Amino acid sequence: MKKDFLCIQDMTSTDVESIFNLASELKTQQNQGQTKQLLAGKTLAMIFHKPSIRTRISFDVAMFQLGGHTIKMTEQDAEFGKRESIPDIARTLSRFVDAIMIRTFDQEQVEELAKHASIPVINGLTDSSHPCQALTDLFTIKEKAIDCAKMKFTYIGDGNNVARSLINLAALMNFNLHIASPRGYQPEAELLRVSPTVTIHKDLQKAVADADVVYTDTWASMGQEDEAAERAKVFAKFQLNRKLLDLAKPTAYVMHCLPAHRGLEITDEVIDSAQSIVFDQAENRLHVQKAILVKLMSKC
Ligand code: CP
Ligand code: NVA
Repeated sequence: MKKDFLCIQDMTSTDVESIFNLASELKTQQNQGQTKQLLAGKTLAMIFHKPSIRTRISFDVAMFQLGGHTIKMTEQDAEFGKRESIPDIARTLSRFVDAIMIRTFDQEQVEELAKHASIPVINGLTDSSHPCQALTDLFTIKEKAIDCAKMKFTYIGDGNNVARSLINLAALMNFNLHIASPRGYQPEAELLRVSPTVTIHKDLQKAVADADVVYTDTWASMGQEDEAAERAKVFAKFQLNRKLLDLAKPTAYVMHCLPAHRGLEITDEVIDSAQSIVFDQAENRLHVQKAILVKLMSKC
């Protein structure tokens, strides 16, 4: 496994399988109240330049349950290039802590941090990717005993960080991902060229038809708040509501990385339905990230 987890391409399919196996083991142990202190005495620094509930709490609780601890830094403590350069922040943190988890805007800054850090760096979301989320999403689907080789996994909405990581994961793990986005908001063509298992649909209904999983995310990601009103108009037809979901298989699962904007990209009726597994997804961030932390921090 590489030193860092900055994007899905940092992992091989074997790495992903081994993370899923460990996550499963750790989840079972946790549910039996027996989590081993695999990271006793280790510290994870967490840098947040954007808000978070799931990423912050799941990494914090993961480290606590594994016997380690975390230090949270905000923009005020670690504003890149203002009080200190990225390389100097990386070098300093490498002398104190055992790994860094970072949520920020620019993927290149995360790469620069990792380049100058002697310890593992984990991407907790950038404008261009959300790899911990995508791994958790596939883990959650596998738990539901869906045959990933045969499933139709449909993502509707913005071609954003979450969509990009799912595209890269589909290429790596060889599952069929169908995407429908409004014109001008599709994932980059360049990304799709390297992902033969991804189909881009012009027709939203065809994308959702007979799907096993229907996934959506916010129409305006963090940092795009100024565009929210315009995007709400452009994306209106892409709302995941009962009528649209009824085109998928009756057994289809509904996924959303959260936070959800109820009444916009998804209705209450759908997100609160028996088909929704959004809180299983949220919980699994804890178990999958525990496995990532153990693999990267203890080199096992
Ligand atoms: N899904 C996710 O990353 O949630 P947060 O933004 O709350 O961390
Ligand atoms: N695309 C969303 C994901 C939030 C977890 C965002 O970047 O805000």
